[in-house]
Amino acid sequence: MKKGLTRGLTNYGDAGFSLYLRRSFAKSMGYSGEMLARPVVGIADSRSGFNNCHRHFPELIEAVKRGVLAAGGLPIEFPTVSLGEVFLSPTSMMFRNLMSIDVEEMIRAQPMDAVVLVGGCDKTVPAQLMGALSADVPAVQLLAGPMMPTSFHGERLGACTDCRRFWALHRAGRIDEKGIEEVEGNLATTAGTCAVMGTASTMASIAEALGMALPGSAAIPAVHADRLRAAEASGARAIDLVKSPLRPSQIITEKSVENALRVLLAIGGSTNAIVHLTAIAGRAGIKIQLNHLNELSDSTPVLVDLKPTGQYYMSDLYAAGGVGAVMRELKGLLHLDCMTVAGVSLKEVLDKLPAWVDRAVIKPFSEPLSKQGGLVALFGSLAPNGAILKRSAADPKLFEKEGRAVVFSSLDDLAARIDDPGLDVTPEDFLVLQNAGPKSGYAMPEAGYLPIPAKLARAGVKDMVRISDARMSGTAYGTIVLHVSPESAIGGPLALARNGDRIRLSIKERKIDLLVSESELQKRKSSWKPPVAPPARGYAKLYMDHVLQAEHGCDFDFLRKS
Ligand code: FES
Repeated sequence: MKKGLTRGLTNYGDAGFSLYLRRSFAKSMGYSGEMLARPVVGIADSRSGFNNCHRHFPELIEAVKRGVLAAGGLPIEFPTVSLGEVFLSPTSMMFRNLMSIDVEEMIRAQPMDAVVLVGGCDKTVPAQLMGALSADVPAVQLLAGPMMPTSFHGERLGACTDCRRFWALHRAGRIDEKGIEEVEGNLATTAGTCAVMGTASTMASIAEALGMALPGSAAIPAVHADRLRAAEASGARAIDLVKSPLRPSQIITEKSVENALRVLLAIGGSTNAIVHLTAIAGRAGIKIQLNHLNELSDSTPVLVDLKPTGQYYMSDLYAAGGVGAVMRELKGLLHLDCMTVAGVSLKEVLDKLPAWVDRAVIKPFSEPLSKQGGLVALFGSLAPNGAILKRSAADPKLFEKEGRAVVFSSLDDLAARIDDPGLDVTPEDFLVLQNAGPKSGYAMPEAGYLPIPAKLARAGVKDMVRISDARMSGTAYGTIVLHVSPESAIGGPLALARNGDRIRLSIKERKIDLLVSESELQKRKSSWKPPVAPPARGYAKLYMDHVLQAEHGCDFDFLRKS
């Protein structure tokens, strides 16, 4: 097996010439022959000026390099696509698979014996894990770490649950323009990913639960010195992985995916994580069944009291014992024989954890915040292939309910009419958004958190049942049915809903039904037309031709392992 710079030589029909040429060009960067003979650790750098969450990566990557060098390797960083959540149009979700292709191909094409994946913002970690698993070169996931909350007017603020809380107050007329501008400057004040249990923090926790990030590293704040020590340790560990290879496919298995699902449920994690974990697992040929998610959810308690469902921030979770302390509580439910990137089993990891745990943030298994997990999958005539609801972030008063549909045919239609004083809507209605799924032309944005119509918000309405084929930010909350599949843009039943239809939601029965007769639905179906013309070229065409529905993780059909 070739090592270091000798891997994957360009074929000129003369291997000696290829290596000679590669080494001479590598020497142009000032490396000595001794350095070039070392094992190579690639560092996949997802830094970008369009990614605020990764702004500390230069320092983090220096620490990774230090770890690699001290362990006898040669660290070489390389850039990949970066996905800054709020800087991408139509949505970062459209580009997760593009980044995963970039990561996979650059790991495979360049001569590296192991790789440290440095990511954090929502889609970057799933993209890196998907790419690394497909390339299957030894890999360590290093997370950006969460932002710190900010003290503001006597309370703590952190992106981005508080962003939504203040914006709702602004929409309800309780905070003026000047006030909201002042809040805007105090929501995200340090480097790192969103400060709550949003998608980035959930995916960081999942990376550790899967065994792909070093034990104890998921929740370390971005600006904490421990984050740099974790970076150094990740670099050093990558060299160990060169000496005794442990590939992502040996770490991401059916059992570790189930462990990750348990952790996702226990932390009250983001709905997006179901899509991402499904896509990651799909790269290993593992299928996550939504029915199985419900079985796990029924037997996994919510233990972590973090926003958006609770009161604390990620930095509090770190101080409370981190993801390891959560997993120790779940020990009886986990597959402890799973191997971790640390080179030891999960059991050995958990046995070595310090005893300290802050019970204000991480509840004991015997006294959970809720006996059941945070997420539930729904099925029924409106979502034959499934939908997701985050019950830990929803209002239980709305769990068993029938309502009248108020339908918006697209995001543009929603924006145009939601605040119209003449909109026929009451708090008892169900707001329905069509054409916001993977193939809608909007690429499944985080638009499932439909705003409460302004006139109802002003009257004090805080939650309503909202249904769509979109996703929702992990930092959002409400009684929100997401990921309805098949989506409306391919003619799923959601596309056939009309104003005034009755819809029945039952969390107890795991049901979401459109109460319209089959004959009427057939009539509507015969006049249905797709909402957008297929794109003619480029990545948009590749995306549209190959993206799968939510229950398959929205991966491309040709990237999954069959
Ligand atoms: Fe990057 Fe929230 S914007 S994690």
